[in-house]
Amino acid sequence: MVEYAEASAPGKIILVGEHAVVYGAPAIALPVSTVRVTVSVTPAVGGSGITFRSDAGGQTRPLDLSEDSRDPIAQMVRSTLSCAGVSGVDFSLQLNSQIPVASGMGSGAAVSTAIGRAVSRALRFQLSDEQLNQLVYEVEKLHHGTPSGIDNTVIVYEKPIFFQREHPIRSFLVSAPFVFLIADTGISAPTKAVVDDVRILCQRYPSFVGCLIDEIAHIVGAAHDALALGQEDRLGALMLSNHALLQTLGVSSLELDVLVSAAVSAGALGAKLSGGGRGGNMISLVHREDVDVVTAALLTSGAVRVTSLLL
Ligand code: MEV
Repeated sequence: MVEYAEASAPGKIILVGEHAVVYGAPAIALPVSTVRVTVSVTPAVGGSGITFRSDAGGQTRPLDLSEDSRDPIAQMVRSTLSCAGVSGVDFSLQLNSQIPVASGMGSGAAVSTAIGRAVSRALRFQLSDEQLNQLVYEVEKLHHGTPSGIDNTVIVYEKPIFFQREHPIRSFLVSAPFVFLIADTGISAPTKAVVDDVRILCQRYPSFVGCLIDEIAHIVGAAHDALALGQEDRLGALMLSNHALLQTLGVSSLELDVLVSAAVSAGALGAKLSGGGRGGNMISLVHREDVDVVTAALLTSGAVRVTSLLL
């Protein structure tokens, strides 16, 4: 009944609009297909249950599939099995990930997506992207509390998206190649804690935070147009404005600000933190001929890893 199966899912980066997207503003997110999570399912002897092992270390462990388990891996396996109408199966899951955890690159959503795909394939069950997106979103709530849904959506569909809560998913036109560099501060910062802090700020100063959210929404709309019209300079300026608003929201950090300044001083057209902030990754927009010099500047300014992304 269970066959060997394998599946993978990409990382993601938010180009503009993080945090505001939680409050209903739009945001633009891009898949990072060169950095992936891979999950394999291997049938196991009857009665051995479902076990999990990760290349990040640790022993092979049995998964607790009970309803009240707060383990995101177990919840993803349980909801996929339930969607397929299957129970009492035995297999082992092996996870290999190139996506740094708690770094704003969607590691949690990518792990869930790869598990959903690998387990459904092993059961020969056709799980649609729409179903998978919903299952991953439910697991995202364990990671983030109140996720907007942008991470699971960009990762499941693996295409650039213009995302807004309660609206149909939109892909968009890009009329020139845009070259981005993604730099990792190496500092892990759980998104939930930062999202919670923004919520507290919002409760204390609703009209101030409301103004910031409106400004970010405006930037996202303009960034959408800049992508469609191939306007690199305009997109770069919008990224910088978005970073300034995120600083005001209190979600940047010294390390992120240093990387943004380093990128711009080395010739980037724009740069900003990406994802939850307070650590994790930043993204910069560069001319193709400046890739090497900006990469070097990011590495000497504290980045532990730089990944390029072509849109
Ligand atoms: C996290 O990648 C993006 C945030 O806007 C949270 C969310 O949208 O769920 C910070």
